[in-house]
Amino acid sequence: MEGFQFYFLVLFLASCVVGVAPNADVAASEHEKHNASKSDSNCGCDSTSRQTSAPTSDNHNINSKCERGCDTVSSTKITPQEAVDNAHRSTDNNSPYPRTNQMVFIKGGTFIMGSDNQIIVADGEGPARKVTLDSFFLDVHETSNAEFELFVNATGYITEAEKFGNSFVVETFLSKDVKDKITQAVAAAPWWLPVEKADWRHPFGPDSNISESMTHPVLHTSWNDAVNYCKWAGKRLPTEAEWEYACRAGKKDKLFPWGDKLMPDKKYRLNIWQGLFPKNNSAKDGYVKTCPVTAFPAQNHYGLKNIVGNAWEWVADWWHVRHSDQDVTNPTGPVSGVDRVKKGGSYMCIKSHCYRYRCGARSQNTPDSSSSNLGFRCAATTLPNYLMAEPPGGAKDEL
Ligand SMILES: *[C@@H]1O[C@H](CO)[C@@H](O)[C@H](O)[C@H]1NC(C)=O
Ligand SMILES: *[C@@H]1O[C@H](CO)[C@@H](O)[C@H](O)[C@H]1NC(C)=O
Ligand SMILES: *[C@@H]1O[C@H](CO)[C@@H](O)[C@H](O)[C@H]1NC(C)=O
Ligand SMILES: *[C@@H]1O[C@H](CO)[C@@H](O)[C@H](O)[C@H]1NC(C)=O
Repeated sequence: MEGFQFYFLVLFLASCVVGVAPNADVAASEHEKHNASKSDSNCGCDSTSRQTSAPTSDNHNINSKCERGCDTVSSTKITPQEAVDNAHRSTDNNSPYPRTNQMVFIKGGTFIMGSDNQIIVADGEGPARKVTLDSFFLDVHETSNAEFELFVNATGYITEAEKFGNSFVVETFLSKDVKDKITQAVAAAPWWLPVEKADWRHPFGPDSNISESMTHPVLHTSWNDAVNYCKWAGKRLPTEAEWEYACRAGKKDKLFPWGDKLMPDKKYRLNIWQGLFPKNNSAKDGYVKTCPVTAFPAQNHYGLKNIVGNAWEWVADWWHVRHSDQDVTNPTGPVSGVDRVKKGGSYMCIKSHCYRYRCGARSQNTPDSSSSNLGFRCAATTLPNYLMAEPPGGAKDEL
């Protein structure tokens, strides 16, 4: 409880420094390319980082030598081969969700990562630099609740949010009952609240559940949780370079996976926020919160779904905002850091506050952080055996 109050203090101090953004509903301009004003970057994203000084037991001290991410599936201690076998088995053990996330082959090559036309300069979106990558595989979809449940059922894995006993939820989506219990925090924090007993099974507070959203992206998974899930599935997190290469799909210096216009045919191609942020998502794109991982047509020719929008996606790299403009091959990011990188934006993103549903955009959180708009998808250097054969009935969008 004491720790919970400390969160509040940290958030309060943070909001004093940053300043609370007005609930402006700035109409999106015709031209997507422009320099960001201050408010463009104020999505409150960094309010969702657990603080080093936040409630910690020995297990949770993010300053400890080997953080929790160094260990893999610590609760089960399985070898990578066993992990792959487990993932395989879990697809035919009478689960109501037989399909495991299919992967697309991304042929290696050279591309321009970042941009010299930076939109949110403070995020380190530039400079443009030449990056060469080997071929790899990437999940077509974000990891769904159903898939994460397969993992939890098979391993008994407990997420960091469950261990901490809390996670960050957007105030707008909390029930009145839950909000009433944390009235103090409401006054100080912009719109993110640390909510007790919020976790992947209770994404919008303890009185919410996922029974109607098994096909939606799993939320409230920390970077460490994402690493453990991918390992179990015989996969790994993509590097930031791989993620961005896959997002850009061969297009040069474009904002979105399909080009520079948000809605070239006047149709939404992604799940972001419309209307009054953060009070009322008018859901012109069809969704108030997350959408199924299979929703919307593929966003580029790789067939990737919701690579931008829906849920933020953790990538492997440590966060840093200064990049060398030297040519690099298979970059894995800085060797150390405090935060990990997340990409792609979420259903919470609106141009006026979080213009980050772009391939070159980026943000960060500490690796033990989790929130109601943050998930992940996995990559692999070689396709796991169990994905080499077509799943029963073919690779359909069943999840
Ligand atoms: C954006 O900012 C850069 C410098 O930060 C400036 O050179 C450029 O002209 C600006 N572009 C627009 C469209 O304002
Ligand atoms: C996980 O296990 C529970 C209890 O046995 C079961 O009801 C559920 O369907 C399983 N989930 C998946 C995704 O297989
Ligand atoms: C899940 O939440 C819905 C309301 O959103 C409720 O109707 C349902 O009973 C809940 N399911 C469980 C298993 O608690
Ligand atoms: C949200 O906005 C829509 C229109 O965009 C409006 O119809 C609805 O009443 C609003 N809801 C709330 C709770 O303000």
